[in-house]
Amino acid sequence: MCGIVGILGSEGVADKLVDALKRLEYRGYDSAGVATIVDGKILRRRAEGKLRNLELALEREPLAGAIGIGHTRWATHGAPTERNAHPHATDQVAVVHNGIIENFLDLRELVKSGGAELETDTDTEVVAHLITQALQAGKTPRDAVADTLHRLKGAFSFAIIFKGEEDLMIGARRGSPLAVGHGDGAMYLGSDAIALAPFTDRVTYLEDGDWVVLTRTSFEIFDESNLPVTRPEHTSAATAVQVDKGNYRHFMQKEIYEQPEVIGHTLSRYLNLNKLCTTLPKGTSVDFAALDRLVISACGTAFYAGLIGKYWFEKYARIPVDIDIASEFRYREMPVKAGDLALFISQSGETADTLASLRYCKQQGMRIGAVVNVPESTIAREADVVFPTVAGAEIGVASTKAFTCQLSVLASLAIHAGRARGVLSAEREAELVRMLGEVPAYAVKALKVEKDLEKLSQPLSKSNHALYLGRGTNFPLAMEGALKLKEISYIHAEGYAAGELKHGPIALIDESMPVIVVAPHDEIFEKTVSNVQEVAARGGRVILITDARGAAEAGINAWKTIVMPDVPEIAAPIIHAIPVQLLAYHTAVFMGTDVDQPRNLAKSVTVE
Ligand code: AGP
Repeated sequence: MCGIVGILGSEGVADKLVDALKRLEYRGYDSAGVATIVDGKILRRRAEGKLRNLELALEREPLAGAIGIGHTRWATHGAPTERNAHPHATDQVAVVHNGIIENFLDLRELVKSGGAELETDTDTEVVAHLITQALQAGKTPRDAVADTLHRLKGAFSFAIIFKGEEDLMIGARRGSPLAVGHGDGAMYLGSDAIALAPFTDRVTYLEDGDWVVLTRTSFEIFDESNLPVTRPEHTSAATAVQVDKGNYRHFMQKEIYEQPEVIGHTLSRYLNLNKLCTTLPKGTSVDFAALDRLVISACGTAFYAGLIGKYWFEKYARIPVDIDIASEFRYREMPVKAGDLALFISQSGETADTLASLRYCKQQGMRIGAVVNVPESTIAREADVVFPTVAGAEIGVASTKAFTCQLSVLASLAIHAGRARGVLSAEREAELVRMLGEVPAYAVKALKVEKDLEKLSQPLSKSNHALYLGRGTNFPLAMEGALKLKEISYIHAEGYAAGELKHGPIALIDESMPVIVVAPHDEIFEKTVSNVQEVAARGGRVILITDARGAAEAGINAWKTIVMPDVPEIAAPIIHAIPVQLLAYHTAVFMGTDVDQPRNLAKSVTVE
């Protein structure tokens, strides 16, 4: 996902733009650039690769100016080169863009017929030429932008500056988030409040279709019909403190180690450990007793959290759950009933597929719930009820602490729903709440297996493939473990239901195939063990992640057994996420990949 920032401020704006872009690095990118207006002219500095390269370009050729725009690019159209880096400009206009212009090929022909000479492979450059040609036709900057926006199909957020206009910046959003920051005699645009935090905590979030005309002392917001609208000003919770790694090597390792603390913060919003009962966060209410069905949709790791949540809602609350990955859900037109609850899980709260699925369910009259880590995000703002995870900013592209916090929320909600539907006694609720309340302590113990996993990472890094197996709630966890490994070490991995192995995948097993089995000792442990014995009998190298009882009773000649603390069933998926996170992390570290910003990935995918 690209990052956008715009500053209408005072001299020396280039350095401030770069500082703001540093706060957007977590989104993933492969090139960056800034543009300012100096003596009425648009000047740019752009660089391939990390922001350090842009800083070097600015050291070589400093850029003056009191108004400017900046961008970190995650390539969608065109290779990640300096030539394709934003801002894209003509001599009249400079633009930075997050999103995808779906009709850009037609628009390329249109601007070329108007005399434009295109220099890049990007969709964004076309927008600069469209606005320029509207200006050349005599339109004012705001009319030129309004005219251009109506020609675009797809998703975008823009920040735009104009030759000779030292006190004018225009922003627009459709699909990709954009916030206005209010300063003292200065105005800002940013993809999120984190980018604006060093300058201001007063932010106004544009809604889909909005565009805004800024001067240093004013802002006017218009909707997609170009009618003036007002949007509320919020005080952002994003801190000005630059999130840093502390004494950890990577954000991912830091965030794995933050889990005991942030799981505790999250659970404190949903559990009353004095009365041993569940509560809902202040201001939230859901009539679980009235629900015929629960729909869940999410992407990636958040989807695997939802899959585990499905087991819990069906087991503890006896609610039938339909769940699907958001990129499929949004197009299958699932028949749903108005009034039922649709739950969307998202760390960033900006994932385009998840947001589109939310909007489908909203159109169908469903009640919308959102389990999100960013309370000011688009998904949070469009939901009827928000169930926050309290994980703090998650910078590593590979989601870890957000995942275990999502599970903590879902477990709490499932228990709460069971109580509300009269299928869970107060005694059983108290027992489950007590178990959940001990998860932070279990997590501290679970982290102690790090050294064992670090030792495994070296031989594992030599594999081209890996298979993860689990049953019950350990099956989605096996898929999450596979995702972690492939997204940061680039080793192909697949998560499979242990019981499905004999229906095909067992053909994959030989001594070159490591098989990671997530199997705490639970009511289906024996079943899983028999699957694992099939693997071991065929020379498969088994890494068994279990607990003391499981290790004692498995009777398998495993390559390695990781013994986790004994935990009650409802805590198991949360606690057993830690070893699969650590295994992926250390394998990637050993392989020398970019652990926090793996190739081709972005922290939040705001495009389809
Ligand atoms: C997880 O490690 C990945 N980074 C990715 O699958 C992520 O979970 C997915 O893109 C969903 O993101 P969200 O939770 O911000 O919606």
